[in-house]
Amino acid sequence: SNFDIERIKSMLGTHADFPKEGIVFKDMFPVFQDPTAVEALITNIVYHLTSTHKEKIDVVVGLDARGFLFGPLIALRLGAAFAPVRKAGKLPGDCARAVYAKEYGEDVFEVQKSAIKPNARVVIVDDLIATGGSAGAAGELIKKCDAKVVEYVFVMELDFLNGRKALDAPVYSLIHL
Ligand code: HPA
Repeated sequence: SNFDIERIKSMLGTHADFPKEGIVFKDMFPVFQDPTAVEALITNIVYHLTSTHKEKIDVVVGLDARGFLFGPLIALRLGAAFAPVRKAGKLPGDCARAVYAKEYGEDVFEVQKSAIKPNARVVIVDDLIATGGSAGAAGELIKKCDAKVVEYVFVMELDFLNGRKALDAPVYSLIHL
């Protein structure tokens, strides 16, 4: 409900000049101090997904590192698999790779091919969308596995950065900042 969303929003930490000058950092960890808030957050996202997608969601993909906190909770409720996207070199076995631009330089994401079967219907989850660079790279990984991103889901979206324009599937965010 709107009441739940406003309550969760009020629990977010705000830190000026973190991790460096000029950045106003929103911290979602205070939400985890209250399990009723976590429950409301997950219930909202799962309700959105089940009411939007008539076909089964096969895999929830969580992005390193805070996507690992929300992804498995959502996957469990949906009866879907969970798979992690990690920085290069952390996952064993045959992996798909995608490079993306960061503020300084670039980074490489990987996913295990065995976790993403051809034609799988996938939801990509992270805590926050800023410029959309990392989420876009995760979407590329899923396409390299011949699977389909049906939606991107975020707990927080920094609307002024327009990150959703970098993504080529529907985007849902619980909280707009
Ligand atoms: N919070 C968490 N992660 C982030 C933020 C933020 O405000 N901006 C970019 N990444």
